[in-house]
Amino acid sequence: MTAKPTVHYELPADLSRERLPKHVAVIMDGNGRWAKRRGLPRIMGHRRGVDTLKKLLRCCRDWGIEALTAYAFSTENWGRPLEEVDFLMTLFERVLRQELAEMMTEDVRIRFVGNLTALPESLQAEIDYAVTQTKENSGISFTIATNYGGRQEIVQACRAIATQIQQGHLAPEDITEDLFSQHLYTADICDPDLLIRTSGELRISNFLLWQLAYAEIYVTETLWPDFDASEFHQAVYAYQQRDRRFGKVKS
Ligand code: FPP
Repeated sequence: MTAKPTVHYELPADLSRERLPKHVAVIMDGNGRWAKRRGLPRIMGHRRGVDTLKKLLRCCRDWGIEALTAYAFSTENWGRPLEEVDFLMTLFERVLRQELAEMMTEDVRIRFVGNLTALPESLQAEIDYAVTQTKENSGISFTIATNYGGRQEIVQACRAIATQIQQGHLAPEDITEDLFSQHLYTADICDPDLLIRTSGELRISNFLLWQLAYAEIYVTETLWPDFDASEFHQAVYAYQQRDRRFGKVKS
């Protein structure tokens, strides 16, 4: 059997290495529509979506981007047909198991954000294993938001801080933006610089509400399964044309 050649993504000449986003976040939308247009069941779109994500992760790593976060399952996605939810849970588990060896070879650190306790126990075990195995990896940081909701994350941070105040460990005036950030799932991950949403919707859908405060947003009509390296190139190119002022005026 011949081994599959590993694709290497060169940084396109019109992108500046110095001004790459450090952290890219993606809302992977349009899997269902992609499948429907081809007369396929929705789950085929999710299956193809995994391939897109794997390629994007490799592209980010090859270009020298430090972190990628993908919105895989929101707290609202439980409202989908049971068959689709079950398929997604099984898919996450299978992908984690199948891809772990390659993640180790490629020095990827895997993390999960969200309320993981509500996930099937077998998936929680697979997540724990992948997170523990990859925690010393120092290449790209890959975060998967699963059963994640930005409002729910903020509420749980408030509760944790309120408990510390009640127990006398903190005073209300100790609450700062930094302290608050430390109580979010993303405590040790820098905020995204670029948010990409596929399939044309102009919403952030409860994703990283706190962390996206100053992210540049790029929306493409392309459906997630069709989002390839050349689409990513266009997104990063658009990002590099933006004038990021963080609320200040240009000096
Ligand atoms: C949105 O498309 C997609 C999802 C809710 C699932 C995304 C999950 C993957 C791509 C799998 C990722 C796997 C791992 C291991 C992280 P949609 O179904 O809402 O599409 P539609 O808007 O066209 O219906």
